[in-house]
Order: sequence, then structure tokens, then C-alpha cells
Amino acid sequence: TSSLTGFGAGKVILLGEHSVVYGYPALAGPLSRGVTARGEPSSKCQLVIPDALMTEQRKVLKAAFARAMAACGEPGVKVSFDTDLPLSMGLGSSGALSVACSRVLLQAAGRKASASEVAAVAWEMEQEFHGTPSGVDHTTSAMEQLILYRRKPGAEQGRAKVVDSPKPLKLVVVMAGARSPTKQTVGALRERQKRWTERYQRIFREIGLLASEGAEAVEEGDLEALGDVMNVNHGLLAALGLSSPGLDDMVHRLRNMGALGAKLTGAGGDGGAVIGLFHDTGPAVHELTRLGIRCFDSQLAGPRAEGTRG
Ligand code: PMV
Repeated sequence: TSSLTGFGAGKVILLGEHSVVYGYPALAGPLSRGVTARGEPSSKCQLVIPDALMTEQRKVLKAAFARAMAACGEPGVKVSFDTDLPLSMGLGSSGALSVACSRVLLQAAGRKASASEVAAVAWEMEQEFHGTPSGVDHTTSAMEQLILYRRKPGAEQGRAKVVDSPKPLKLVVVMAGARSPTKQTVGALRERQKRWTERYQRIFREIGLLASEGAEAVEEGDLEALGDVMNVNHGLLAALGLSSPGLDDMVHRLRNMGALGAKLTGAGGDGGAVIGLFHDTGPAVHELTRLGIRCFDSQLAGPRAEGTRG
């Protein structure tokens, strides 16, 4: 057999991170950046773990791959991977890795690699990486479309509804500093909401409504309304204690550069990524790059110009 490849897209949460863990909807879409996995025939099923990883990361990666491998009946394939996605920035690198590996394992096992098959195997890996994730990351990556995602607490897999966009959704994604692990940020929020349940649930519910309103705005092609929903969502994430001076500063910078809306994306906390929605991303990317700030642009959904990948 010749070599196999599988791509797992990174993801951006447009609306609804954190509240999605509590069963409310989130709006998320795929990035053109992600993880590419390659498989070579081998006598034993194995993952090539990059030398650069720390002992703890190697252990988690090995355990995660073992679960996916078992789910696919341990086909004879040696899997390696590389990525062009910034890591630990809330851009779904672990979900993307899970999806990329799952695609290669399913192909090697001679099984169908449909989005739902891929998501089911990737879910095995994600649980090892994140404990009890909502599942929005690997589902967005496996479907490679803008989705409104919802997981009922306690349920195995969440449900995803594809959201069609008549307009191109163009984002600038900015890396606004190192952050602590998602598990930690999600865990600290869980402690606060246990203590002050009503107040926190009220805000989660409101963020869920924003995600649904945002999906409607996308379908109507109303980018101004979507931008406003993003701004309000950022305010509520800050109210939940999930922003930081660095993230807030970047949000305001993007708005001053003409963003229709800007917010933190992913787990937030003391760092991570910030997104801005723009009619034209060019000038903001140019200006941020000139200032030495790490960023890239990506089209999340909608019609694409000829010959572009987003
Ligand atoms: O790990 P991140 O930064 O991509 O964030 C995942 C989104 C959360 O809602 C914070 C957690 C989850 O499981 O959905």
C-alpha cells in the first residue's frame, strides 16, 4: 500500500465558548490551518511522537493515540504528523490532531472516513487530552463547516447544525500571549459556578442566546449584527472572569482598526487568541505584522474568491 494522509482543520469559536460546556449552543468554524497526519505501512500500529515534546505531553499523546488505535482495530500503520497551527492558543490543535490521526487510522483499517466516523474516533482522543470537553473542537474539525454545536450535559456526542453564510466571514486571528491549559481555565470557572450557580448560569444562558442570534445574523448576511453579538459575547466572557488585560487590549485594538466585532476565542484566561471580523482583513494584518504582533487571516465560511483556500 502507498502512504495515506489525513488533514484535521484548526477551529475558531465565533460565539459560545465555555457556556457550551454547560449545554448551551456555540457557533464555530474551521481554519484553513491545521494538522496533517501521514501513515506508512508498518508491522505494528504506532504514532511517531515529535522529539520536542515534554515527558507529560508524550504520555498524554500516547494514551490518546492508543484509544483511537483500539477503536480502529489496530491497523498496521505508522502515523506521523506536522502542523502550521499555533499551539495552545485556543485554536483547536488537539482536536485537529485527533481528526488527522483518526482519518489515517480509519483509511488504514479500510473503513469509511465519513465526518461522523472520524468524529467518533477523534472523540476518543479528545477525552484523553481534555477530560470532559464539550466536543465542539473535534466536531468542527471533522465537519470542516461553520456549525451551531450543542451538547446536552451527560450525552456522549453533541449535535451540529451546518450554518450557511451567503457572505464571506473574514477573520483576523491574533496570538495575544501564552495562556494556561484549557483544563485549568474550565476547572476554575466550574468552581465559581458551583458556588454562585444562579448568577453564572444566567450568563451562560445569555451567551447561548447570543450564539443562536449570531447564527441567524450569519444566515441573513448581516455582518454588522454578527459583529455586535461578538462584542457583547466578549463582555460576558470578561464578566465570567475569562479575559485579561492583554486580551482586552487586543480586542480594543482590533475594533479601532475597523473590526465589525472582536472577542477572545477559546478558553481565554491569561492569554490566547483574539479574533476580529472584518470586511477586508488586509490592512489590519499588515498593521499588526508591522508592529511585530503574530496574526493571520482566515475565511471561516461563505463564498470564496476563485482559487483561494481561505
Ligand atoms: O481549548 P480551547 O481553547 O480550544 O477551548 C475549548 C472551548 C471551551 O469551551 C473553553 C472548552 C470546551 O470543551 O468546549
